[in-house]
Amino acid sequence: MTKTAVVFHSGYGHTQKVAQSVADGAHADLVAIDAEGNLTEAQWAILDAADAIIFGSPTYMGTVSWQFKKFADATSTRWYSRAWANKLAGGFTISANLSGDKLSTLQYLITLAMQNGMIWVGQDQLNDGHVNRLGSHSGVMGQVGPTDSADAIPQNDLDTAKAYGARVAQFAAKLKA
Ligand SMILES: Cc1cc2nc3c(=O)[nH]c(=O)nc-3n(C[C@H](O)[C@H](O)[C@H](O)COP(=O)(O)O)c2cc1C
Repeated sequence: MTKTAVVFHSGYGHTQKVAQSVADGAHADLVAIDAEGNLTEAQWAILDAADAIIFGSPTYMGTVSWQFKKFADATSTRWYSRAWANKLAGGFTISANLSGDKLSTLQYLITLAMQNGMIWVGQDQLNDGHVNRLGSHSGVMGQVGPTDSADAIPQNDLDTAKAYGARVAQFAAKLKA
């Protein structure tokens, strides 16, 4: 059976909500990076066992949160041993502004995947007025106003995230077949 994991950091619950949709689509395990940027050994084991890992971070100051970056730096042990090489990878982010420099965050997630020898899955859905309203193909972008709660995240973005999760999981299954 194919295993997909979604590893994310969320400061205020928005990224967590998007992560849940990605995980629903992928039937994935959710792995939350804590407020200190750490994972437990059991959480690392979930990532090590996964065929696909989908990375998620809010966009803070035009890139990933420091907690996500701490996690990313900690993957250097996997980098050295090539432990995650040839796993599939994907990613998503959310921020307050329509642009907000979210592409910079996704590009960092792509770089992290490449550093680890992973294979990035792009976001194929076209902007049809509902899904992919922000027109991102590097990964999933979500957006909600700076004072809005996670409950205000547009359904468009959650549906985009869910379909993307399903896409990554489908390719993971194909790769394993
Ligand atoms: C420290 C900090 C930096 C932020 N930087 C950006 C930014 O560069 N662009 C943007 O559009 N929103 C920015 N925001 C807004 C967050 O991206 C947005 O509130 C997001 O939904 C937070 O996700 P979270 O609840 O998972 O932490 C920033 C928020 C914080 C707290």
